[in-house]
Amino acid sequence: MNLEKFERYPLTFGPTPIEKLSRLSEFLGGDVDIYAKREDCNCGLAFGGNKIRKLEYIVPDAIASGADTLVTIGGVQSNHTRLVAATAAKIGMKCRLVQESWVPFQDAVYDRVGNILMSRVMGAEVELVNDGFDIGIRESWKNALADVEAKGGKPYPIPAGASEHKYGGLGYVQFAEEVRQQEQEMGIKFDYVVVCTVTGSTMAGMVVGFAADGRARNVIGIDASATPQQNHAQVLRIAQNTADLVELSTPITEEDIVIIDDYAYPEYGVPSEETNEAIRIAARTEGMMTDPVYEGKSMQGLIDLTRKGFFPKGSKVLYAHLGGVPAINAYSYIYRNG
Ligand SMILES: Cc1ncc(COP(=O)(O)O)c(C=O)c1O
Repeated sequence: MNLEKFERYPLTFGPTPIEKLSRLSEFLGGDVDIYAKREDCNCGLAFGGNKIRKLEYIVPDAIASGADTLVTIGGVQSNHTRLVAATAAKIGMKCRLVQESWVPFQDAVYDRVGNILMSRVMGAEVELVNDGFDIGIRESWKNALADVEAKGGKPYPIPAGASEHKYGGLGYVQFAEEVRQQEQEMGIKFDYVVVCTVTGSTMAGMVVGFAADGRARNVIGIDASATPQQNHAQVLRIAQNTADLVELSTPITEEDIVIIDDYAYPEYGVPSEETNEAIRIAARTEGMMTDPVYEGKSMQGLIDLTRKGFFPKGSKVLYAHLGGVPAINAYSYIYRNG
């Protein structure tokens, strides 16, 4: 595998901490040791999260292109758009965001708080578009790119979640390298990695990175898109493209992509009662906050799979906490009593 040939623009603080979740492990019966890799604490850019690790490999290309405006797309409470806005500010570019109505959720201040609030404060031009959820390439995004050009700017396109970008998977290949290094330092080896998946490149990068030591299938994706077939196809495609880029010696096959789709209900962006319970459990055992769109669902998966005995007794399970907590502010009514 050859990741070193790709330029990486430093946006993170360095390797993210791995923390043992002793009280959560005990709460779930004590048969499995649960750890968290805190991607939610990875940098000083607007609360951080998984997109920053991806953007480290994309920014050099953006700068080399001579662009002056980063253009991207997401839902109204997208973490990705917030972090592209932060990155644009950090590297001295403008930012244009298309925010679509991906989530049928009506909190009075849904489009005023959390992620979108921060994107506006960081100076991004935010356009609200009334289209539903889709992780593919959107018309509204193409229109925004054309509009930046028409106004004399030079746009740099970053697709939803940075996933369809040619370098979108590299950041999480590097995550696996980092985990291997930390495993050596800690003197342990993780049997499973649990990760939330929606637009696909986080999991795809991990699958490639862990395939290098035969652990591709130990990456357990928890779908939060509620469109699992599209998600599976996208993770596979991005993993295969990323494997080619880094010259992985073994091919990635369909069976290497393990995604569990039992926790995304009722739909993308809407938490179930069980998701809310998982958010409370992580918060009350570990003081670790998760959000109702992404990490609350992967936390629900982690909890349920542990309780069901999916992980053999004695397993060490690494929960990748990918960030996303700012969005919880847009769901204030649900948590008004905790
Ligand atoms: C907090 C959080 N968790 C998980 C994900 C899913 O990552 P990906 O889109 O790379 O599948 C995202 C972004 O979509 C996110 O913002």
